[in-house]
Amino acid sequence: MSDQEVILSEHIGETLPAAIGRTAHDRLFVLTDETTLRLCWPLVEGLPCMAGARMITIGATDEHKTLESLAHVWRSLQEGGATRHSLMVCLGGGMVTDLGGFAASTFKRGMAYINVPTTLLAMVDAAVGGKTGINFGGLKNEVGVFNCARTVILDAGFLRTLDGANLRSGYAEMLKHGLISDATTWAELLRFDLDRIDYTALGRMVAASVAVKERIVREDPLEQGLRKALNLGHTVGHAFESLALSENRTVLHGYAVAWGLVCELYLSARRLGFPKERLRQTLAFVKENYGTFAFGCNRYDTLYELMTHDKKNTAGRVNFTLLSDIGELHIDQTATREEITDMLDFYREA
Ligand code: GLY
Repeated sequence: MSDQEVILSEHIGETLPAAIGRTAHDRLFVLTDETTLRLCWPLVEGLPCMAGARMITIGATDEHKTLESLAHVWRSLQEGGATRHSLMVCLGGGMVTDLGGFAASTFKRGMAYINVPTTLLAMVDAAVGGKTGINFGGLKNEVGVFNCARTVILDAGFLRTLDGANLRSGYAEMLKHGLISDATTWAELLRFDLDRIDYTALGRMVAASVAVKERIVREDPLEQGLRKALNLGHTVGHAFESLALSENRTVLHGYAVAWGLVCELYLSARRLGFPKERLRQTLAFVKENYGTFAFGCNRYDTLYELMTHDKKNTAGRVNFTLLSDIGELHIDQTATREEITDMLDFYREA
């Protein structure tokens, strides 16, 4: 997996042409979804570097992260005369950067791509670190490859048009990065006012957050060990997300992660002595900003089943990343059925 250049941008009109200019290519393609075509493409459409770029557009939202959309991108590349020396710019949220990265990584055995994430979730997580893929057979991100974008451009300007719920969704991954890095960052994240966004401060915090992920990915690009730290909150979070999906309840990924963080910090406190006061403060922040995920104890069996089916598990045990304190990581942790029941009781009562 190649090294990835991550650029904090204040003027997309300068950083994008420069990044395109640094990547030798014969043809340029731009991938958007229907939403980013309308809201974000106009911000870069007039740049001279975009003259002659061929547009490819797919449906918006995760339900379009499919083999059909992928085939549409491959076909458009083929019809547009793409070669192994062509370049694709993925302009959008995590769905576009994941699917576009996979399309570029596989077309003619791989052409270069640049990610321009337009949501907070994509900026701090999906677009960085080279995980690409599509949903398949009812499972999220079931098929894909590790292959980094040549460049990722983080421009907080796109966040000004992002709605509050999607902003909070991305912020949950920043909270996760704070928890796995250091107490100062974590405390700053809890102090930030998500109702009155200071975009300058947010841009700075995004850069710090991405640096946490970059450091981990550089050390363990293929998730053999340390990168599992990035799964904090996700074992329970994915189970909540899947349960919600099966009940036709809409839950944004980051909300499920925020609720999952609270559960897994509880487990961390119980198994590894994570400080109770820090659990309490994190819980208060999550409750205030994300509300709670409602479920009865008649859902415990389903949630347990969903946790056992997580693709990160090995040998039939439920795998967690836990913390003995902020920044003190313990990967490949497991928990008994009784401990998981206790954790779910705690969550419902808290
Ligand atoms: N989203 C977690 C990772 O990139 O490893």
